[in-house]
Amino acid sequence: MCGIVGYVGARPALSIVLDGLRRLEYRGYDSAGVAMIGDGALLTCKRAGKLGNLEKALTEGAADDVTAGIALGTTGIGHTRWATHGGPTDRNAHPHRSTNGRVAVIHNGIIENFARLRAELEAAGVEFVSDTDTECAAHLLEHELASVRAEETARSASPSGGARGAEPSAGLAAAMRRVCQRLEGAFTLLAVDVDTPDVVVGARRNSPLVVGRGQGENYLASDVSAFIEHTRDAVELGQDQVVLITPDRIEITDFDGNEAIGKDFHVDWDASAAEKGGYDYFMLKEIAEQPRAVADTLRGRLGEAGELMLDEMRITEQDLRDVDKIFIVACGTAYHAGLVAKYAIEHWTRIPCEVELASEFRYRDPVLDRSTLVVAISQSGETMDTLMALRHAKEQKARVLAICNTNGSTIPRESDAVLYTHAGPEVAVASTKAFLTQLVACYLVGLHLAQVRGVKYADEVGAVLTQLQAMPAAIEQVLETMEPVRELGRELARARSVLFIGRHVGYPVALEGALKLKELAYMHAEGFAAGELKHGPIALIDEGCPVICVVPSPVGRAVLHDKVMSNIQEVRARGARTIVIAERGDEAVRPYADHLIEVPPTPTLLTPLVTTVPLQVLACEIATARGHDVDQPRNLAKSVTVE
Ligand code: F6R
Repeated sequence: MCGIVGYVGARPALSIVLDGLRRLEYRGYDSAGVAMIGDGALLTCKRAGKLGNLEKALTEGAADDVTAGIALGTTGIGHTRWATHGGPTDRNAHPHRSTNGRVAVIHNGIIENFARLRAELEAAGVEFVSDTDTECAAHLLEHELASVRAEETARSASPSGGARGAEPSAGLAAAMRRVCQRLEGAFTLLAVDVDTPDVVVGARRNSPLVVGRGQGENYLASDVSAFIEHTRDAVELGQDQVVLITPDRIEITDFDGNEAIGKDFHVDWDASAAEKGGYDYFMLKEIAEQPRAVADTLRGRLGEAGELMLDEMRITEQDLRDVDKIFIVACGTAYHAGLVAKYAIEHWTRIPCEVELASEFRYRDPVLDRSTLVVAISQSGETMDTLMALRHAKEQKARVLAICNTNGSTIPRESDAVLYTHAGPEVAVASTKAFLTQLVACYLVGLHLAQVRGVKYADEVGAVLTQLQAMPAAIEQVLETMEPVRELGRELARARSVLFIGRHVGYPVALEGALKLKELAYMHAEGFAAGELKHGPIALIDEGCPVICVVPSPVGRAVLHDKVMSNIQEVRARGARTIVIAERGDEAVRPYADHLIEVPPTPTLLTPLVTTVPLQVLACEIATARGHDVDQPRNLAKSVTVE
């Protein structure tokens, strides 16, 4: 949600900022704008709709002073806005300027006390020109900047003070700190001020912001993909920090002005990893990348003594041995990964494991203490619901382990241990490769716990690892046989509704299949535990209703397999058209499948790694056949940074 880019250096800022915004488009937005300091003036341009509208406005205005000035700027900020306060109009698009027009601000998040601040500013005579919460910050910044400068002038004029005045560029950072102290809620703010033309100031509380370290130039952005083509050296900011960048300086303080140190990190993927690579959509590319993503997430996990390794570990082995309850908190697709994890973790560790929607977790007062392990799963590492659940858990003294795909993001930074999924950048809004790598990470966490607690011997853990190592090839095999699934997708594009059923780990797969179809094809789709059908949902089945059935392996858990077979017959008896995903060689299902999608034989707990893939392909094909952009479905944002 909302993409933010800032640049200061010697090159024209406009194209750098626009390119950065393009790379952040995947986050979801409905208007865009830029502010540049060029030729001694602060100039802004903003438009509702996609970036193309903004670029058109900039091109059409090429002859006017604003656009000419914008093109000259070497300091600038840009924003893609996902509307919260006020509709997606030109007027509400960011940047917002203060009354005197000398300061411009962009913002991601929600300023929760904005109504009070707005009333106070209006009472003082400020006229608002938008419906946004952000505009308050612009006016407050103008006001605080004037105070900081007046105080500085007074200090340097006093006989005792100011032989050496404060660095003029520091005024904007000082004013920003004061503004932040007045704001409640979640925010990333960037600001530029015409009187300090080589400076961009940023602030963050709860919303994402990273610094890109260049040579004679520096960047600020919501995530590294915005500046990855210019630099892969980045600096992670902490909570409640203000950062000032100039072409050759990066200065970080907390909101009280105390110096703070950012954490340097190097991004291990490059710009080409975030390009479409010949595919029509990022989603298609990301589905195809799954074998590689799973292999990368598994790579290097065994230590010298045969122990499983996470990426960051600030929990002692004794603490892990003391864990008596696990909560998994996550949202959407990541929640479905958590549902699968429950089966594996409980089976391997014998520790009770609950899976909770992060948005519900803290409001129901869960029972947590220092022997509870909370596993937070998040691709972006910035999902506000998950972050708030994590913080609640920490307040109750629980240990938190993050499974995350985004280095430098907030959730891993605030966790006691981290396991990174090495999926690489996931650009399409609908999660695919992140889901499969989250599953792998969950299996690894389960095995790690089992090993540390002595419930599984190294050779048993090794045996599961060997099965996991075989999964990239199995996923590849599934991908190679997807043409009939695509054909089926084109046929199903006319369906009114599609139902999904599964049992055991096939149940979360059914939920995930339905979620993909809803979000991409805007079609009614629902996933059910197959055994629940007869308790109500079976009433939905009528003649020709497509029901996608995820069938467990007949090997090992034959009872599960047979139960799902019965459920398939129940829906067929009521006219359903059955699309069955089953293990290759499972001849028993063939007579009951109107369409059979075969996947390679796989150990029961690991089957979601193969059974999910056809559902991703199917949803993508149905959506494309219905004429939708699968990378940016309507109303959705990649990184959901509001609660
Ligand atoms: C669905 C999807 C979302 C995310 C959810 C959590 O395809 O992508 O449901 O899974 O918003 O996002 P993260 O994993 O970034 O916390």
